[in-house]
Amino acid sequence: MNLSTTYLGLTLPHPFMPGASPMVDDLDVVRRLEDAGASAIVMHSLFEEQITREQLGTIQAMEMHAGAFAEALSYFPEPADYKLGPEQYLEQIRKIKSVVKVPVIASLNGVTLGGWLEYAQKIELAGADALELNVYYLATKAWEAGSLVERRILEMVHAVKTGLKIPIAVKLSPFFSSLGHFISELDRLKVDGLVLFNRFYQPDIDPEELEVVPTLQLSDSSELLLRLRWLAILSGRVKASLAATGGVHTGLDAVKAVMTGADAVQVVSALLRRGPKHLAVIRQEFTQWMEKHEYESVAQMKGSMSLLKSPDPASFERANYMRILQGFKWESLAPAGS
Ligand SMILES: Cc1cc2nc3c(=O)[nH]c(=O)nc-3n(C[C@H](O)[C@H](O)[C@H](O)COP(=O)(O)O)c2cc1C
Repeated sequence: MNLSTTYLGLTLPHPFMPGASPMVDDLDVVRRLEDAGASAIVMHSLFEEQITREQLGTIQAMEMHAGAFAEALSYFPEPADYKLGPEQYLEQIRKIKSVVKVPVIASLNGVTLGGWLEYAQKIELAGADALELNVYYLATKAWEAGSLVERRILEMVHAVKTGLKIPIAVKLSPFFSSLGHFISELDRLKVDGLVLFNRFYQPDIDPEELEVVPTLQLSDSSELLLRLRWLAILSGRVKASLAATGGVHTGLDAVKAVMTGADAVQVVSALLRRGPKHLAVIRQEFTQWMEKHEYESVAQMKGSMSLLKSPDPASFERANYMRILQGFKWESLAPAGS
Protein backbone atom coordinates (compact mmCIF):
# COMPACT_ATOMS: atom_id res chain seq x y z
CA MET A 1 0.00 0.00 0.00
CA ASN A 2 1.44 3.33 -1.00
CA LEU A 3 0.77 6.13 1.50
CA SER A 4 3.17 8.63 0.00
CA THR A 5 2.12 12.19 -0.65
CA THR A 6 3.62 15.45 -1.83
CA TYR A 7 3.15 18.47 0.39
CA LEU A 8 4.83 21.85 -0.23
CA GLY A 9 6.92 20.11 -2.86
CA LEU A 10 8.27 17.73 -0.20
CA THR A 11 7.85 14.03 -0.85
CA LEU A 12 6.56 12.48 2.38
CA PRO A 13 6.00 8.82 3.23
CA HIS A 14 2.44 9.61 4.38
CA PRO A 15 0.25 12.65 5.13
CA PHE A 16 0.22 12.55 8.97
CA MET A 17 2.11 15.10 11.04
CA PRO A 18 1.72 17.06 14.28
CA GLY A 19 0.37 20.56 13.66
CA ALA A 20 1.82 23.70 15.22
CA SER A 21 1.86 23.37 19.01
CA PRO A 22 4.16 23.70 22.01
CA MET A 23 4.99 19.98 21.75
CA VAL A 24 8.14 20.98 19.85
CA ASP A 25 9.59 22.87 22.83
CA ASP A 26 10.70 19.56 24.31
CA LEU A 27 13.22 17.65 22.20
CA ASP A 28 12.22 14.42 23.86
CA VAL A 29 8.62 14.93 22.69
CA VAL A 30 9.93 15.77 19.20
CA ARG A 31 11.78 12.42 19.15
CA ARG A 32 8.63 10.64 20.33
CA LEU A 33 6.66 12.29 17.52
CA GLU A 34 9.20 11.04 15.00
CA ASP A 35 9.09 7.57 16.61
CA ALA A 36 5.28 7.65 16.23
CA GLY A 37 5.93 8.11 12.51
CA ALA A 38 5.41 11.87 12.03
CA SER A 39 6.10 12.60 8.36
CA ALA A 40 7.22 16.16 9.28
CA ILE A 41 7.48 18.27 12.40
CA VAL A 42 5.52 21.53 12.43
CA MET A 43 6.80 24.00 15.02
CA HIS A 44 4.64 26.39 17.01
CA SER A 45 4.72 30.00 15.90
CA LEU A 46 7.13 32.79 16.50
CA PHE A 47 4.86 35.82 16.87
CA GLU A 48 5.18 39.25 15.27
CA GLU A 49 4.53 40.87 18.67
CA GLN A 50 7.43 38.95 20.22
CA ILE A 51 9.83 40.03 17.49
CA THR A 52 8.64 43.63 17.40
CA ARG A 53 8.87 43.95 21.16
CA GLU A 54 12.45 42.72 21.07
CA GLN A 55 13.37 44.96 18.13
CA LEU A 56 11.76 47.92 19.91
CA GLY A 57 13.76 47.22 23.04
CA THR A 58 16.99 47.45 21.08
CA ILE A 59 16.13 50.52 19.03
CA GLN A 60 16.41 53.38 21.51
CA ALA A 61 15.53 55.95 18.86
CA MET A 62 11.99 54.70 18.80
CA GLU A 63 11.36 55.80 22.39
CA MET A 64 8.95 58.44 21.15
CA HIS A 65 6.43 55.79 20.13
CA ALA A 66 7.23 53.43 22.92
CA GLY A 67 4.52 54.83 25.24
CA ALA A 68 1.56 54.04 23.01
CA PHE A 69 3.15 50.86 21.78
CA ALA A 70 3.95 49.69 25.31
CA GLU A 71 0.33 50.24 26.29
CA ALA A 72 -0.86 48.17 23.34
CA LEU A 73 1.63 45.47 24.23
CA SER A 74 0.49 45.32 27.84
CA TYR A 75 -2.38 43.09 26.65
CA PHE A 76 0.07 40.58 25.26
CA PRO A 77 2.08 38.03 27.21
CA GLU A 78 5.32 39.25 28.83
CA PRO A 79 8.51 38.17 27.01
CA ALA A 80 9.20 35.71 29.83
CA ASP A 81 5.84 34.01 29.20
CA TYR A 82 6.97 32.80 25.76
CA LYS A 83 8.96 29.64 26.12
CA LEU A 84 11.24 30.63 23.26
CA GLY A 85 12.35 34.17 22.39
CA PRO A 86 13.15 34.95 18.73
CA GLU A 87 16.81 33.86 18.93
CA GLN A 88 15.94 30.77 20.96
CA TYR A 89 13.33 29.90 18.34
CA LEU A 90 16.04 29.86 15.66
CA GLU A 91 18.22 27.79 17.97
CA GLN A 92 15.33 25.36 18.50
CA ILE A 93 15.06 24.87 14.71
CA ARG A 94 18.74 23.90 14.63
CA LYS A 95 18.31 21.54 17.58
CA ILE A 96 15.23 19.86 16.10
CA LYS A 97 17.01 19.49 12.75
CA SER A 98 19.87 17.77 14.56
CA VAL A 99 17.62 15.19 16.27
CA VAL A 100 15.14 14.24 13.53
CA LYS A 101 15.44 13.12 9.92
CA VAL A 102 12.00 14.30 8.81
CA PRO A 103 11.43 17.80 7.37
CA VAL A 104 10.94 20.62 9.88
CA ILE A 105 8.28 23.24 9.13
CA ALA A 106 8.69 26.45 11.16
CA SER A 107 5.90 28.96 11.75
CA LEU A 108 5.68 32.74 11.75
CA ASN A 109 2.50 34.35 13.02
CA GLY A 110 1.53 37.96 12.44
CA VAL A 111 -0.60 40.48 10.62
CA THR A 112 1.44 43.42 9.33
CA LEU A 113 3.98 44.01 6.64
CA GLY A 114 7.09 45.00 8.57
CA GLY A 115 10.65 44.39 9.65
CA TRP A 116 9.63 41.38 11.74
CA LEU A 117 9.21 39.43 8.49
CA GLU A 118 13.02 39.35 8.20
CA TYR A 119 12.72 36.42 10.54
CA ALA A 120 11.44 34.38 7.61
CA GLN A 121 14.96 34.51 6.15
CA LYS A 122 16.54 33.79 9.52
CA ILE A 123 14.27 30.76 9.83
CA GLU A 124 15.42 29.58 6.40
CA LEU A 125 19.06 30.10 7.36
CA ALA A 126 18.53 28.18 10.60
CA GLY A 127 17.68 25.15 8.45
CA ALA A 128 13.88 24.92 8.34
CA ASP A 129 12.66 22.95 5.34
CA ALA A 130 9.50 25.04 4.94
CA LEU A 131 7.65 27.89 6.61
CA GLU A 132 4.03 28.16 7.68
CA LEU A 133 2.86 31.78 7.74
CA ASN A 134 -0.11 32.09 10.07
CA VAL A 135 -2.12 35.25 9.41
CA TYR A 136 -4.46 34.96 12.43
CA TYR A 137 -6.39 38.21 12.56
CA LEU A 138 -9.71 39.19 14.04
CA ALA A 139 -11.11 42.11 12.04
CA THR A 140 -12.84 44.17 14.74
CA LYS A 141 -12.38 47.68 13.33
CA ALA A 142 -15.51 49.10 11.69
CA TRP A 143 -13.47 51.34 9.37
CA GLU A 144 -11.43 48.49 7.97
CA ALA A 145 -12.86 47.04 4.76
CA GLY A 146 -12.37 43.37 4.03
CA SER A 147 -10.42 44.31 0.91
CA LEU A 148 -7.85 46.11 3.12
CA VAL A 149 -7.38 43.06 5.31
CA GLU A 150 -6.94 40.88 2.25
CA ARG A 151 -4.50 43.28 0.58
CA ARG A 152 -2.35 43.43 3.70
CA ILE A 153 -2.15 39.66 3.90
CA LEU A 154 -1.30 39.40 0.19
CA GLU A 155 1.49 41.97 0.64
CA MET A 156 2.91 40.02 3.56
CA VAL A 157 2.74 36.76 1.68
CA HIS A 158 4.37 38.33 -1.39
CA ALA A 159 7.21 39.74 0.76
CA VAL A 160 7.87 36.39 2.42
CA LYS A 161 7.51 34.31 -0.73
CA THR A 162 9.88 36.44 -2.81
CA GLY A 163 12.50 36.50 -0.04
CA LEU A 164 12.72 32.75 0.48
CA LYS A 165 13.95 29.66 -1.31
CA ILE A 166 12.12 27.22 0.95
CA PRO A 167 8.41 26.60 0.32
CA ILE A 168 5.78 28.51 2.25
CA ALA A 169 2.30 27.57 3.38
CA VAL A 170 -0.30 30.09 4.51
CA LYS A 171 -2.44 29.13 7.50
CA LEU A 172 -5.82 30.80 7.17
CA SER A 173 -9.03 31.32 9.03
CA PRO A 174 -12.30 30.56 7.21
CA PHE A 175 -13.64 34.08 7.84
CA PHE A 176 -13.29 35.87 4.52
CA SER A 177 -16.35 37.05 2.67
CA SER A 178 -15.27 35.30 -0.51
CA LEU A 179 -12.71 32.77 0.58
CA GLY A 180 -12.47 31.14 -2.85
CA HIS A 181 -11.52 34.44 -4.49
CA PHE A 182 -8.99 35.33 -1.80
CA ILE A 183 -7.39 31.91 -2.07
CA SER A 184 -7.12 32.29 -5.83
CA GLU A 185 -5.14 35.51 -5.17
CA LEU A 186 -2.83 33.61 -2.82
CA ASP A 187 -2.46 30.92 -5.46
CA ARG A 188 -1.42 33.58 -7.97
CA LEU A 189 1.39 34.55 -5.59
CA LYS A 190 2.52 30.94 -5.91
CA VAL A 191 2.21 29.99 -2.28
CA ASP A 192 3.20 26.37 -1.96
CA GLY A 193 0.47 25.35 0.44
CA LEU A 194 -2.66 26.32 2.33
CA VAL A 195 -3.34 25.15 5.87
CA LEU A 196 -7.07 25.03 6.58
CA PHE A 197 -8.09 26.35 9.12
CA ASN A 198 -7.00 28.32 12.16
CA ARG A 199 -9.27 27.83 15.16
CA PHE A 200 -10.26 31.01 16.90
CA TYR A 201 -9.86 30.89 20.64
CA GLN A 202 -13.04 32.43 21.92
CA PRO A 203 -13.00 34.03 25.35
CA ASP A 204 -15.80 33.31 27.78
CA ILE A 205 -17.06 35.83 30.35
CA ASP A 206 -17.44 35.44 34.09
CA PRO A 207 -20.74 37.19 34.93
CA GLU A 208 -20.02 37.21 38.69
CA GLU A 209 -16.56 38.76 38.45
CA LEU A 210 -17.35 40.78 35.31
CA GLU A 211 -14.20 39.44 33.74
CA VAL A 212 -13.24 38.08 30.37
CA VAL A 213 -11.96 34.55 30.80
CA PRO A 214 -9.47 33.25 28.24
CA THR A 215 -10.33 29.68 27.32
CA LEU A 216 -8.55 27.10 25.26
CA GLN A 217 -10.76 24.18 24.43
CA LEU A 218 -9.29 21.35 22.48
CA SER A 219 -11.18 20.34 19.35
CA ASP A 220 -13.32 17.32 18.60
CA SER A 221 -14.14 15.66 15.27
CA SER A 222 -17.16 17.91 14.62
CA GLU A 223 -14.75 20.73 13.74
CA LEU A 224 -13.50 18.75 10.79
CA LEU A 225 -16.67 19.39 8.78
CA LEU A 226 -15.81 23.00 7.92
CA ARG A 227 -12.37 21.83 6.73
CA LEU A 228 -13.87 19.04 4.63
CA ARG A 229 -16.17 21.44 2.83
CA TRP A 230 -13.34 23.80 1.86
CA LEU A 231 -10.89 21.06 1.00
CA ALA A 232 -13.55 19.65 -1.32
CA ILE A 233 -14.17 23.05 -2.91
CA LEU A 234 -10.47 23.80 -3.45
CA SER A 235 -9.13 20.38 -4.37
CA GLY A 236 -7.99 20.28 -8.00
CA ARG A 237 -8.69 23.98 -8.42
CA VAL A 238 -5.57 25.49 -6.81
CA LYS A 239 -1.91 24.77 -7.49
CA ALA A 240 -1.00 25.07 -3.81
CA SER A 241 -0.99 21.86 -1.82
CA LEU A 242 -3.57 21.53 0.93
CA ALA A 243 -3.24 20.62 4.60
CA ALA A 244 -6.12 19.95 6.97
CA THR A 245 -5.83 21.22 10.53
CA GLY A 246 -8.69 21.12 13.01
CA GLY A 247 -10.78 18.21 14.20
CA VAL A 248 -8.67 15.23 13.07
CA HIS A 249 -8.82 12.71 15.91
CA THR A 250 -9.23 9.30 14.26
CA GLY A 251 -8.15 7.36 11.19
CA LEU A 252 -11.61 7.85 9.75
CA ASP A 253 -11.29 11.64 10.16
CA ALA A 254 -8.03 11.39 8.22
CA VAL A 255 -9.69 9.31 5.47
CA LYS A 256 -12.30 12.06 5.08
CA ALA A 257 -9.65 14.79 4.95
CA VAL A 258 -7.69 12.96 2.24
CA MET A 259 -10.83 12.10 0.25
CA THR A 260 -11.82 15.75 0.15
CA GLY A 261 -8.32 16.68 -1.05
CA ALA A 262 -5.82 17.05 1.81
CA ASP A 263 -2.19 16.38 0.86
CA ALA A 264 -1.20 16.61 4.53
CA VAL A 265 -3.16 16.00 7.70
CA GLN A 266 -2.11 17.86 10.84
CA VAL A 267 -3.09 16.76 14.33
CA VAL A 268 -2.80 18.71 17.60
CA SER A 269 -5.67 18.33 20.09
CA ALA A 270 -5.72 14.53 19.80
CA LEU A 271 -1.96 14.36 20.47
CA LEU A 272 -2.17 16.77 23.40
CA ARG A 273 -4.92 14.57 24.90
CA ARG A 274 -3.50 11.15 24.11
CA GLY A 275 0.22 11.68 23.61
CA PRO A 276 2.49 11.54 20.53
CA LYS A 277 1.84 7.80 20.04
CA HIS A 278 -1.70 8.58 18.92
CA LEU A 279 -0.28 9.71 15.58
CA ALA A 280 0.69 6.06 14.91
CA VAL A 281 -2.84 4.97 15.92
CA ILE A 282 -4.38 7.38 13.41
CA ARG A 283 -2.10 6.07 10.66
CA GLN A 284 -2.88 2.47 11.55
CA GLU A 285 -6.64 3.07 11.54
CA PHE A 286 -6.23 4.89 8.22
CA THR A 287 -4.35 1.98 6.60
CA GLN A 288 -6.82 -0.55 7.97
CA TRP A 289 -9.64 1.44 6.41
CA MET A 290 -7.77 1.53 3.09
CA GLU A 291 -7.19 -2.23 3.20
CA LYS A 292 -10.81 -2.96 4.01
CA HIS A 293 -12.03 -0.76 1.17
CA GLU A 294 -9.34 -1.93 -1.28
CA TYR A 295 -7.57 1.36 -1.83
CA GLU A 296 -4.01 0.90 -3.03
CA SER A 297 -2.64 4.38 -2.51
CA VAL A 298 -3.24 7.75 -0.95
CA ALA A 299 -3.00 9.19 -4.46
CA GLN A 300 -5.98 7.10 -5.51
CA MET A 301 -8.03 8.31 -2.54
CA LYS A 302 -6.94 11.96 -2.63
CA GLY A 303 -9.67 14.32 -3.78
CA SER A 304 -12.04 11.50 -4.71
CA MET A 305 -14.79 13.33 -2.81
CA SER A 306 -13.86 16.81 -4.05
CA LEU A 307 -16.38 19.11 -5.64
CA LEU A 308 -14.82 18.40 -9.03
CA LYS A 309 -15.09 14.63 -8.65
CA SER A 310 -18.02 14.23 -6.30
CA PRO A 311 -21.01 12.36 -7.69
CA ASP A 312 -23.20 14.97 -5.94
CA PRO A 313 -21.37 18.34 -6.03
CA ALA A 314 -24.50 20.33 -5.16
CA SER A 315 -24.46 18.73 -1.71
CA PHE A 316 -21.48 20.92 -0.78
CA GLU A 317 -23.33 24.06 -1.79
CA ARG A 318 -26.62 25.89 -1.22
CA ALA A 319 -28.81 23.05 -2.45
CA ASN A 320 -27.87 20.94 0.54
CA TYR A 321 -28.55 23.81 2.91
CA MET A 322 -32.09 24.13 1.59
CA ARG A 323 -32.67 20.38 1.61
CA ILE A 324 -31.48 20.07 5.23
CA LEU A 325 -33.63 22.95 6.47
CA GLN A 326 -36.74 21.89 4.54
CA GLY A 327 -36.32 18.26 5.50
CA PHE A 328 -36.08 18.94 9.23
CA LYS A 329 -38.67 16.95 11.20
CA TRP A 330 -39.57 18.23 14.63
CA GLU A 331 -40.66 14.71 15.70
CA SER A 332 -37.12 13.46 15.17
CA LEU A 333 -36.02 15.55 18.18
CA ALA A 334 -38.98 14.96 20.47
CA PRO A 335 -38.35 12.27 23.12
CA ALA A 336 -40.32 9.06 22.56
CA GLY A 337 -43.81 9.15 24.04
CA SER A 338 -43.89 12.92 24.58
C1 LIG B 1 -1.89 24.63 22.92
C2 LIG B 1 -1.96 24.99 21.47
C3 LIG B 1 -0.97 25.78 20.91
C4 LIG B 1 -1.03 26.14 19.56
N1 LIG B 1 -0.05 26.94 19.03
C5 LIG B 1 -0.11 27.27 17.73
C6 LIG B 1 0.90 28.09 17.15
O1 LIG B 1 1.85 28.52 17.82
N2 LIG B 1 0.79 28.40 15.83
C7 LIG B 1 -0.24 27.96 15.05
O2 LIG B 1 -0.27 28.25 13.86
N3 LIG B 1 -1.20 27.17 15.58
C8 LIG B 1 -1.17 26.82 16.89
N4 LIG B 1 -2.15 26.05 17.40
C9 LIG B 1 -3.25 25.60 16.53
C10 LIG B 1 -3.00 24.17 16.02
O3 LIG B 1 -1.84 24.12 15.21
C11 LIG B 1 -4.18 23.64 15.22
O4 LIG B 1 -4.33 24.38 14.03
C12 LIG B 1 -5.50 23.66 15.98
O5 LIG B 1 -5.32 23.21 17.31
C13 LIG B 1 -6.54 22.79 15.28
O6 LIG B 1 -6.11 21.46 15.18
P1 LIG B 1 -6.62 20.30 16.19
O7 LIG B 1 -8.09 20.20 16.06
O8 LIG B 1 -5.90 19.07 15.72
O9 LIG B 1 -6.22 20.71 17.57
C14 LIG B 1 -2.10 25.68 18.75
C15 LIG B 1 -3.08 24.85 19.33
C16 LIG B 1 -3.03 24.51 20.65
C17 LIG B 1 -4.10 23.62 21.22
